Amino acid sequence: MKDKVVLAYSGGLDTSVAIPWLRETYEMDVIALAADVGEGKDLDGIRQKALDIGAIDCHVVDVREEFAKEYAFLALKANALYEGRYPLSSALSRPLISKLLVDCAHAEGARAVAHGCTGKGNDQVRFDVSVKALDPDLEVIAPVRESPMARTDAIAYAKEHGIPVPVGKQNPFSIDVNLWGRSIECGVLEDPWIEAPEEVFAWTASVADTPAACRYVNVTFSGGIPVAIDGVEMSPATLLSELNRIGGMHGVGRLDHVENRLVGIKSREIYEAPAAVMLLEAHRDLEDLTLPRELAHFKAGLEHKYAELVYFGLWFSPLREALDAFVEQSQKRVSGTVRLKLHRGTCQAVGRKSPQSLYDADLATYGAEDTFDHRAAEGFITVWGLPTTVHAAVASKNDGTADQQGTVSAIAGMQRP
Ligand code: ARG
Repeated sequence: MKDKVVLAYSGGLDTSVAIPWLRETYEMDVIALAADVGEGKDLDGIRQKALDIGAIDCHVVDVREEFAKEYAFLALKANALYEGRYPLSSALSRPLISKLLVDCAHAEGARAVAHGCTGKGNDQVRFDVSVKALDPDLEVIAPVRESPMARTDAIAYAKEHGIPVPVGKQNPFSIDVNLWGRSIECGVLEDPWIEAPEEVFAWTASVADTPAACRYVNVTFSGGIPVAIDGVEMSPATLLSELNRIGGMHGVGRLDHVENRLVGIKSREIYEAPAAVMLLEAHRDLEDLTLPRELAHFKAGLEHKYAELVYFGLWFSPLREALDAFVEQSQKRVSGTVRLKLHRGTCQAVGRKSPQSLYDADLATYGAEDTFDHRAAEGFITVWGLPTTVHAAVASKNDGTADQQGTVSAIAGMQRP
């Protein structure tokens, strides 16, 4: 009996070519695995294609809810943005697909798993490291990395092996899609000076085509997780689809990012991520209302690290688990509703309310209801500013600058205990 390999299969040219390539090069039986993370693809067609090309089986798994709940929403709770911009859509799907590959390999008694990533992107790292984290004994094969083919050669190879190649103009872009966003690279986008042409966008309207009237969307969170839109509860995946639709109509979520890949290359990426952009805005806003200052500031310091480790392929790592434990604890009271305003490509939180709100109107007001103890501020400021005052006094004595004489006398006039 031949050894088996489980291939992450998208139905595209590269992973289709990988089926006969794995059979011929490694003499293994290929089991295809197509995961639905919300691309909106024809999965029955993809399954049939894998079988027609020679896979001995093809599993199609709908993991949209799992992806939304166990991956995208964890990143949301951590406000994860790589380099302050990229919501990590592609990066978040790789560990989930790796987990599916490993589970399938175990169920099928396969010796190896395979993916269609190139040797210069981040995704190969995410697949390889995730698989090794889950089962260090599984071999990971990357046909495109091992034996790169020019597009024309890949097409010729495909034709030789009876793989249907779509005729007509080839899509010049490399696109990866899931519920958390759409990533587009290659083609004309490789010149970072050239503005992305309209044709790369599929989810978001160009600002010129957005409605003149703004739209308000109320997003309700429970424990840091979005649970309802405009009061209507929905499942995680449905909620993301719905926000992608609404935000996209208003041109929200277009991102243009020259990013630092883990493999040392700078690359220019275009993203469309309406739901992610809206939810990150709403979630951060609700945290502003519900987290005490020290927790909010400390958490912000971890968010950068969280985003980085997701980008760098370390989802299945003790550090991510530890950070998630912290993040989870921080979200206990992040519940309430944020009102977002969408208009002409922008998304802004313009209202927020929560039973856990730490905003105290009587403390904040400048009106007659004010309960804040103004006299308490004086003593607080004296103590708070003491190191600065003492330093200024010593510095001015030694430097003798005229304009700091006032500080010296202020110190001299201070009461001693
Ligand atoms: N640069 C992004 C990342 O590393 C997206 C890569 C996704 N692939 C694509 N074909 N656009 O996460």
